[in-house]
Amino acid sequence: MFGSRVLVDVLAFAATALLLVSPATAATSKKASTKTAPASTPTQTSTPELDPAVNFCKRYQHQSAVTSNTLFIDGGAEWFHDDPIVWGPATPGINTYLVTTDMSDSWDWKGNISQTSIFKTTQPGRKIGYVPSLDGAAIWPNQNETHLYLYGGTTNSSLSNFTLYEAPQSDAQTLWKYSIADRSWDPVAYAKGSPFVTRASFGASVVAPNLNKAYYLGGIVDRGSTDLSGDLAAPRFLDGLLEFDFETEAVRNISTLGLGNRARAYAQMVYIPDYGNTNNSTGKKGGVLVVIGGEQKSSQIIDVSGNRRGDPVAMSDIAIFDIATETWFVQQASPHANEFPRTRTDHCVVVRGAPDGSSQNIYLYGGIYYDQNKNATYLDDVWILTLPSFQWIKIYEGESPRYGHTCHVAPEGRQMITIGGLGNYYTANFNDSQCDWETKSVALYDLTSLQWGSAYLAYSGIYQLPVEVAQRVNGTQDGGATILSPTGGWSSPDIRALFVPAPVVKKSHTAAIVGGVIGGLGGLGLIIAAGYFYYRRYIKKMDRPIPPPPEKPQWVKPELEGALDTTSPTKGEPGMLYEIGDGVAKPIPVEAKGREIPSELP
Ligand SMILES: *[C@@H]1O[C@H](CO)[C@@H](O)[C@H](O)[C@H]1NC(C)=O
Ligand SMILES: *[C@@H]1O[C@H](CO)[C@@H](O)[C@H](O)[C@H]1NC(C)=O
Ligand SMILES: *[C@@H]1O[C@H](CO)[C@@H](O)[C@H](O)[C@H]1NC(C)=O
Ligand SMILES: *[C@@H]1O[C@H](CO)[C@@H](O)[C@H](O)[C@H]1NC(C)=O
Ligand SMILES: *[C@@H]1O[C@H](CO)[C@@H](O)[C@H](O)[C@H]1NC(C)=O
Ligand SMILES: *[C@@H]1O[C@H](CO)[C@@H](O)[C@H](O)[C@H]1NC(C)=O
Ligand SMILES: *[C@@H]1O[C@H](CO)[C@@H](O)[C@H](O)[C@H]1NC(C)=O
Ligand SMILES: *[C@@H]1O[C@H](CO)[C@@H](O)[C@H](O)[C@H]1NC(C)=O
Ligand SMILES: *[C@@H]1O[C@H](CO)[C@@H](O)[C@H](O)[C@H]1NC(C)=O
Ligand SMILES: *[C@@H]1O[C@H](CO)[C@@H](O)[C@H](O)[C@H]1NC(C)=O
Repeated sequence: MFGSRVLVDVLAFAATALLLVSPATAATSKKASTKTAPASTPTQTSTPELDPAVNFCKRYQHQSAVTSNTLFIDGGAEWFHDDPIVWGPATPGINTYLVTTDMSDSWDWKGNISQTSIFKTTQPGRKIGYVPSLDGAAIWPNQNETHLYLYGGTTNSSLSNFTLYEAPQSDAQTLWKYSIADRSWDPVAYAKGSPFVTRASFGASVVAPNLNKAYYLGGIVDRGSTDLSGDLAAPRFLDGLLEFDFETEAVRNISTLGLGNRARAYAQMVYIPDYGNTNNSTGKKGGVLVVIGGEQKSSQIIDVSGNRRGDPVAMSDIAIFDIATETWFVQQASPHANEFPRTRTDHCVVVRGAPDGSSQNIYLYGGIYYDQNKNATYLDDVWILTLPSFQWIKIYEGESPRYGHTCHVAPEGRQMITIGGLGNYYTANFNDSQCDWETKSVALYDLTSLQWGSAYLAYSGIYQLPVEVAQRVNGTQDGGATILSPTGGWSSPDIRALFVPAPVVKKSHTAAIVGGVIGGLGGLGLIIAAGYFYYRRYIKKMDRPIPPPPEKPQWVKPELEGALDTTSPTKGEPGMLYEIGDGVAKPIPVEAKGREIPSELP
């Protein structure tokens, strides 16, 4: 069974490539597909042409998670090919499965990737109740990697003609859990004492694994949220930060008044354990949440335009939630060559710490920029916000935008995996049969070399800072940042306190004595180790070469250079690279090699 799936994928890729090179071979390819495709269709479903892995055309507004060495993709809007090999008109619909990909072994989406679809709405013999398949929800893995929790989401009534469409449900049941071992879903009742929470969607969501908690900031309620929300004309922005405790299954709704009293949605958020005020009961940093982009509830009292969603949140304003004190802060970030990333929604973010922890780097990819008229511009750019110096660093800007996608740091920590999303050339337009050229819905990005690729490496090597970041924090690729505060200063002294190292934990009297006896020899070792560390740092700094400028145009996506785009024309102006450094950076035009946009399919 596995063999045939691999075969189909290889054939699919080969056939797709052939199609693009030579449309004349289409008929032959179609024959091949008719023979091989049925072998790979799952047996659980009576509608095999809607298998979200086999018949994948494009998807967005899904939710995903990496846990238990597996990538899980849940829900979202999906377009299906009737034929996995020859791209005919695509059927718009809903992903009613959980799509999984094994992350314990390497794979290449152009070759041997294997994806499994687990049907979720009609698990026989399971608990009563319908497991909804929603857009803009969140799936949260728990700390022991046994379960995924599904919270929130909305249904899109534009898809009401889809065979598997289900009308919005009551918000009495907004939380479900999936047992990874049993492949089964159960409704979850929040623990006693939890407040009522409605089914939010498009909030910023993140899991704090070491706290065994998940957070969900704001979001909206729209016509598809619940059985009672159908009369809403425009999305209603929600206040509050939900904190869900996996151990007790209790939820809290923490005030966001400190965030400026304007509810926020469509943002993205990361959790960084190394910062924040100290949790007095553990003596360690309590961690922070850092919120990037999104929109705030409109400052206009009356929504005259009808489709006005909110006001964009400036990319200079970085909202920080201190977990230990449950306090909100906003720190000003500095631009790159006088430029901030464009305000946006439908983007994705991941965070990665320097090897020595001296900086934490938030990678931002893609999304939608809305101008004052609410005209959308789809974005293809990567930026890094490096903390604690709060500098934005522009990595690339290209012309293959993506929005409504998700991204995660892959298990080894060196690659980012991105999932789904739409773009200019494969938009949400129902009548558009153009599919995602990432034919398995995934792409990989090396967080150190800043290059796109199609291969996931289960053993990808050690993460190091990109040269661009090392330069801007005056360190090396191993860390050693010496720029440890924002160039424009801390927006408040309280924010500075979040980013200074944790105080040494005071031991109790007895513990100190016992520790002293046991630690005597160890202490000597510690002094030697510390000496060595500073010596090494000193050596590194002394002969640190100036890191070379990036060799290749950073916006090149290798998968676009392959067979998939051979017929495409080259359009547009050359891309821009930005000089890195403290001087005034100016754009450098670079050659347009490899920037081709995948062509329309015949
Ligand atoms: C896919 O191919 C790579 C390289 O040949 C190999 O290392 C990996 O084990 C393969 N993975 C699977 C799932 O077959
Ligand atoms: C659903 O189908 C009906 C009948 O064909 C059509 O009138 C209606 O516009 C469709 N709705 C949507 C949302 O496409
Ligand atoms: C959280 O509380 C606010 C009021 O403070 C409420 O408006 C919001 O709906 C609540 N969030 C959810 C998801 O129920
Ligand atoms: C893992 O966590 C889930 C819920 O978060 C809990 O029900 C389960 O008992 C835990 N399992 C183990 C082995 O700790
Ligand atoms: C502090 O740490 C303890 C122990 O881990 C935890 O129970 C508590 O919730 C933490 N307090 C805050 C405010 O995060
Ligand atoms: C921790 O203890 C200090 C000193 O007693 C106190 O000022 C601070 O408010 C406490 N922090 C928290 C989060 O309780
Ligand atoms: C932007 O929106 C305005 C008003 O809706 C419209 O007149 C204008 O043509 C749009 N511009 C573009 C570039 O689409
Ligand atoms: C509903 O789906 C259509 C087609 O995918 C899309 O154009 C529209 O923006 C979606 N609506 C929402 C609220 O996401
Ligand atoms: C899609 O477009 C084609 C050609 O542009 C047209 O013939 C067809 O009617 C359209 N289908 C729908 C459902 O709008
Ligand atoms: C950058 O690093 C060098 C070498 O460690 C040091 O001398 C210099 O003061 C640093 N500059 C800043 C602005 O921190």
